Amino acid sequence: MKISVLKEHRPGETRVAATPETVKKLVGLGHTVTIESGAGTVAGFPDAAFTEAGAAVVSGPAAASGADIVFKVRRPLPGEIAALPDGAALIALMEPFAYAADEIAALNARKIAGLSMEFTPRITRAQSMDALSSQSNLAGYRAVIEGAQIYGRAMPMMMTAAGTIAPAKVFVMGVGVAGLQAIATARRLGAVVTATDVRPAAKEQVASLGAKFIAVEDDEFKAAETAGGYAKEMSPEYQAKQAALTATHIAKQDIVITTALIPGRPAPVLITEAMVHSMKPGAVIVDMAVSQGGNCPLSKADEIVDVNGVKVAGFSNLPARLPADSSSLYAKNLLAFLPLITAEGGAINLDTDDEIVKAMLLTRNGATVSERLKS
Ligand code: NAI
Repeated sequence: MKISVLKEHRPGETRVAATPETVKKLVGLGHTVTIESGAGTVAGFPDAAFTEAGAAVVSGPAAASGADIVFKVRRPLPGEIAALPDGAALIALMEPFAYAADEIAALNARKIAGLSMEFTPRITRAQSMDALSSQSNLAGYRAVIEGAQIYGRAMPMMMTAAGTIAPAKVFVMGVGVAGLQAIATARRLGAVVTATDVRPAAKEQVASLGAKFIAVEDDEFKAAETAGGYAKEMSPEYQAKQAALTATHIAKQDIVITTALIPGRPAPVLITEAMVHSMKPGAVIVDMAVSQGGNCPLSKADEIVDVNGVKVAGFSNLPARLPADSSSLYAKNLLAFLPLITAEGGAINLDTDDEIVKAMLLTRNGATVSERLKS
């Protein structure tokens, strides 16, 4: 098969969908790999390293020419769709819920088989392909590093001859993949960590990382996890109880990391304006949900907003702030997925009897096939 790896053109995107390591493996499997010149430069993978690994380096959109499969990090911009060969398979973080009808129509007009890495099911067989997890894990780590950088004080307790420095109090809201890594990172830096979530399974995970769990544990909480492992949107009554519980807690925190998401819905508001005003000057909020509307209404994408000395930071693409690692893991996710759409003899085979392929396929042969996009 001919696999093309394209350069990312979205502002601020630093990642690349293949690394010299994965290219070497793809070539070893018998595939022909073409990479767009400069695609890996910012992530620390120069063209020469890809050539050495066995890829052909081609400048500009011509890199997609003749491809059976196109690897990308982000969903294509309109100009990028135009460069795709008719009927090619495109595998990317497609942001499926952000698609406008005309963008889907543009994919269908070219008969692109669009496969969304976000729709990888959370089943054991798909773990090595789970790009949401690989990227969220790094994002959770980076959120704490960014928060610590903005915070004007030290994280660990320090007992010095000149006096004692208290450890930072870090509160993590939303304990999925990103939240768990944020807790672990904050603990390693010496902070005193508390965390909250609406899924009961999170309670034990938080405790196992040495942090304290805080949540409204009523009947709705006990039923808040979907069969897919995600959170449900909570009722206004639950949200009010949750806000009352967290309001007093937040006022005492130094760094708050928010990660709460509900697939296909706007992010829940967990930190109100009043809560921000209750915090101490110098405190920091890192809103990881800013691109899905934000867990705090005061956060703005890619800005640090100062609210009476409280810094509200909204990083819209934290994995892109660790481009080498996030590209490496994402490229391995794609490598792990490829055999599922490769028939014996190496031809492409989009077998929708496979539950993973079926879940990820958005468009095919000019039609939208994903039930999650249709509903
Ligand atoms: P996510 O990115 O969709 O959401 C982040 C967190 O926010 C979740 O823990 C969610 O429960 C929480 N949240 C949502 N609404 C909230 C609210 N109102 N207040 C507080 N917290 C709220 O979640 P992510 O990271 O994708 O993980 C979802 C689940 O999938 C987890 O149970 C995770 O352990 C599981 N998972 C399973 C995998 C597998 O292969 N079996 C792989 C990766 C994750």
